[in-house]
Amino acid sequence: MTNSSGKAADNGPDETVEKAVIVTGGGTGIGAATARAFAESGAHVLVVGRSESTLKETADGHDRIRVLAADIHDHDAPELIVSTALREFGRLDVLVNNAAVTGFASLEGLDRAAVRAQLGTNLIAPVFLTQRALDALEATGGVVVNVSSAGSLGRRAWPENSVYGMAKVALDFLTRTWAVELAPRGIRSVGIAPGVVDTGVGVRAGMPPEAYEAFLREMAGRVPSGRVGRPEDIAWWIVQLTRPEAAYANGTVLAVDGALSVT
Ligand SMILES: NC(=O)c1ccc[n+]([C@@H]2O[C@H](COP(=O)([O-])OP(=O)(O)OC[C@H]3O[C@@H](n4cnc5c(N)ncnc54)[C@H](OP(=O)(O)O)[C@@H]3O)[C@@H](O)[C@H]2O)c1
Repeated sequence: MTNSSGKAADNGPDETVEKAVIVTGGGTGIGAATARAFAESGAHVLVVGRSESTLKETADGHDRIRVLAADIHDHDAPELIVSTALREFGRLDVLVNNAAVTGFASLEGLDRAAVRAQLGTNLIAPVFLTQRALDALEATGGVVVNVSSAGSLGRRAWPENSVYGMAKVALDFLTRTWAVELAPRGIRSVGIAPGVVDTGVGVRAGMPPEAYEAFLREMAGRVPSGRVGRPEDIAWWIVQLTRPEAAYANGTVLAVDGALSVT
């Protein structure tokens, strides 16, 4: 793992840090939009992902965004990520557990190594990253935001997405449980459940671009609000959920999906 920061790499921030945020999976899609939204709101942000080049694209033009190339599922990642944020910013107010991988397979087609890798990134990594961040979050009265999925809310089946869905259901359980466990330490835990958002994730998961486009068109026709989501639709809510005015939202998983999950 390498630590590649933007400006003022090892000199700490060059202005007073009033809010510091970690966004995993900050190089693309919802994570990139979230990092930029936090930076535009005045926060300092550490974006984490495996590809340094996409992280740098997120940071481009944003002096408050620093980048850290790391695989969140590596054993040493929680220490590396949290200690880098504390070294860069001197504090931590928000941890956004956003990074996840998709993979489509029915039960017959599941591969053990792929299942382990998916659960490792989507579920185990957020557990231990959050664990490592607790003392720093306690010091600021901080917030954990888990990025879930509206597709796994309620009593719903999700053919060919069973492992992805089960990780999101479990993440929602963690969101609720951490809210109760961590309330005495002054840390909030909330979740956000996006609907279908055009991030290019389908193509990254192996779909041909035209198939992904067709999927988005079809879903747009099914979403009561009449369109699929934009990454910024989700990022705005993530920022709002971490504001002091949102302090009474705890253990909540907020669906932001154009009403798709209530149809
Ligand atoms: N898009 C949707 O329709 C939708 C709907 C519901 C929920 N969501 C959720 O929203 C979140 C963001 O999704 P998205 O659509 O924005 O997907 P995305 O663009 O593929 O973003 C996922 C990010 O996670 C990073 N990542 C993956 N594995 C990683 C690892 N082991 N270590 C570090 N970083 C890793 C990826 O970067 P690298 O490959 O460079 O590491 C990527 O930047 C996910 O939790 C997803 O489940 C998305």
